[in-house]
Amino acid sequence: MDGRDLVRRVRWVGSVRGLRTVRSAWRRRSADAAALPARGAERARVPGELTGAEPGPGGGVVRFARSELRIRVSVGGAVFWAWDGAEPLPSYAVAGEAPGADPRAVLEPDKDGGWQVVSERLTVVVSRAGAVELRTPGGLLLRRELPPRWWEPVDGGPVRWVQRSEVPADARFFGLGGRAGGPRLRDGVYGLWNTDPGGRFGPGDDPLYLTMPVQVVVSDAGTHLVFHDNSWAGRVVLREGEEGAGSGHDRPGACEVRMEGGPLRCWVVAGTPARVLQGWTALTGAPALPPSWALGAQHARWGFGGAVEVRRVVDGYRERGLPLSVLHLDIDHYDGHRVFTVDGERFPDLPALAKELREDGVRLVSIVDPAVKAEPGEAVFDAGAAVGDRGAYVRDARGRVVVGEVWPGASVYPDFTDPLVRDWWGSLYEERLAQGFSGVWHDMNEPVSFAAFGDPSLPRSARHVLEGAGGDHREAHNVYALAMARAGYEGLLRCRPEERPFLFSRSGWAGMQRYGGTWSGDVSTGWPGLRASLSLVLGLGLCGVPYSGPDVGGFDGFPSPELYLRWFQLGAYLPLFRTHSAIDAGRREPWEFGPEVLEHAGAALVERERLHPYFVTLSQLARMTGAPYVRPVWWGAPGDRALRECEDAFLLGDALLVAPVLEAGARRRAVRLPRGRWYDTATGRAYDGPGQVLVDAPLSRLPVLARAGAVIPVRGADGGPELEVWAPAPGGVGGGPVVRDAGDGWAEAEVERYVTRWEDDRVVVERDGAEGGVDCPVRVRGVRRRG
Ligand code: NOJ
Repeated sequence: MDGRDLVRRVRWVGSVRGLRTVRSAWRRRSADAAALPARGAERARVPGELTGAEPGPGGGVVRFARSELRIRVSVGGAVFWAWDGAEPLPSYAVAGEAPGADPRAVLEPDKDGGWQVVSERLTVVVSRAGAVELRTPGGLLLRRELPPRWWEPVDGGPVRWVQRSEVPADARFFGLGGRAGGPRLRDGVYGLWNTDPGGRFGPGDDPLYLTMPVQVVVSDAGTHLVFHDNSWAGRVVLREGEEGAGSGHDRPGACEVRMEGGPLRCWVVAGTPARVLQGWTALTGAPALPPSWALGAQHARWGFGGAVEVRRVVDGYRERGLPLSVLHLDIDHYDGHRVFTVDGERFPDLPALAKELREDGVRLVSIVDPAVKAEPGEAVFDAGAAVGDRGAYVRDARGRVVVGEVWPGASVYPDFTDPLVRDWWGSLYEERLAQGFSGVWHDMNEPVSFAAFGDPSLPRSARHVLEGAGGDHREAHNVYALAMARAGYEGLLRCRPEERPFLFSRSGWAGMQRYGGTWSGDVSTGWPGLRASLSLVLGLGLCGVPYSGPDVGGFDGFPSPELYLRWFQLGAYLPLFRTHSAIDAGRREPWEFGPEVLEHAGAALVERERLHPYFVTLSQLARMTGAPYVRPVWWGAPGDRALRECEDAFLLGDALLVAPVLEAGARRRAVRLPRGRWYDTATGRAYDGPGQVLVDAPLSRLPVLARAGAVIPVRGADGGPELEVWAPAPGGVGGGPVVRDAGDGWAEAEVERYVTRWEDDRVVVERDGAEGGVDCPVRVRGVRRRG
């Protein structure tokens, strides 16, 4: 905490709300002190010697003196293994039924006295002491899990465990949910506990709102994703390896996963990055498809104040010819900060305003906080109290409703791990739709209870239904927002079945993509915050959550015009493109930063609109294949070590490489190119990768390069569909899929496949399997005119 933070904190604690947060933190602490005794004597345990094995479907069980290991290869190629009899279900991450066993994978003795399962994509080798090695079909080591260790309290209670593993010396770690300090996760400790950093964060803050025990590990040997399916509080310690470390020997990379309870069970998916994400989303669910309007420009502010100001802002966009698709209303539109209410004075007729805006092509999205003001007589509070036999709200170990402190004051928390509560909560979204909202923005769902000290959340001893299994907050905390997202998504679907729900959430967990996207939360305004924004989007995409984006311009304070513009330019290429800021921060409308910024931000908005059909294609591909829209530059070439180190650029789908400007004053920047030919889309100049090139990055635009041969669906000047085609490299071919906008309902979209090639000195574009050729204008770029 720096001096300024300390002063802020002292002021805050001295205020009325501050005093309440002191009380609430004390309440939390004493609830836990009474219900969760300090750790007493524990017995440590390791698996011990191998004693036998029993083949079963897709693998089998290997027995040790003090535990047993179950291995199962599933039909899609994902490998599951678990100690102490744990099974794949129940799981908050796995979508529906667990995949069936691959009958071709058989458990057999190996030559060293251990056992192995050979499958199409992975070989799993179990040693006599209980180490588990994952090898590629060619025999290269991807990961070695050392025998785990458990600590069992003598007097009963949750069993802690640690699992250490090694990865190749050249491996790089990514993922673990949304991390500000990535995308490459360097040596350090990463918490597994969804946390509100309290108003703003930068690259040094960890953990943040959306953690998950999902690592993507990339090495020369291959790419794999490992998921420790356990929602308990935990932490991951990572240490990258070093080649030729001591006396010329490699030091492997190391990873340690420590959990405070819950099962030790793992899923691994290996292959190319594309296959890994396909396997991962096959297991945890296809990403929800955002409605096409959610791929347009969005604007928010905490503190618009009222209908008049909302109208003024929307008119501001319209008068300047700036495209705007969505406007978000934050908690200040609520009546006294109560969820599912509207302040009738500031918004005398919200449905009429929504209708008017809709006619101008602007949708309204509503914030939804989980906490309900603890106020008997208030409709939502009373309705929640009447759910089931015990009411909807989380209770403490003594059965009393837990009261926390959030925006409306003393508040209670629906237990979304209870199916009855999810049903009830989902039905409340009817009110939001009736107010004219088209989608929802879930916030404060880590969940937050403001605290003057300690963890700003519920007591760890608070009780949860956990789908009937029962348990406490240590297990439920990390899946709270995921379960809230399910409630919201299913509720919207019930209320308005003909349209795809639009939902994004600050917190979440593995599988979040089934219900919607996420955003970066309160990213701090500054160049480091800009960098952190990209890190979050890339990391989440690799964990299966493809739709996200930052608060463009930063959440707090006042960005310089240049910082605002560079953030805006980056945001225009991210799936969720939204300007937003705090109530005490500066404005974020593009015209607030002078005419030059307005001109260039306007150009970024227009370019985003032009690329809308490409974003539609990317959203459909994400749903079908799990591939995120925003991908690390190593996506297609994980073996290229220089690309693995590159953290300041990304691929937008297969076609574009975007190189944001992340430094003040930069007007040129180095760009690391993957193999093949790339065109600077502004100048048309061709560069051949792999390698690094210097390109212009004037204030007016970001460097964006197009892959030779790419076919990019865009909006033509007349608003109709058009294909932008980049000439294949000489003698080469190209192409790509295009999925047209099939509306905001459930119509199955058709994938069109295009191929491009040279014919003499002409670039030809054809649609695979279609008679009559291409049915929209084609604009070929990157062809040098002769003479
Ligand atoms: C915290 C969120 O992160 C932020 O985006 C929002 O403006 C405030 N809560 C107020 O609702």
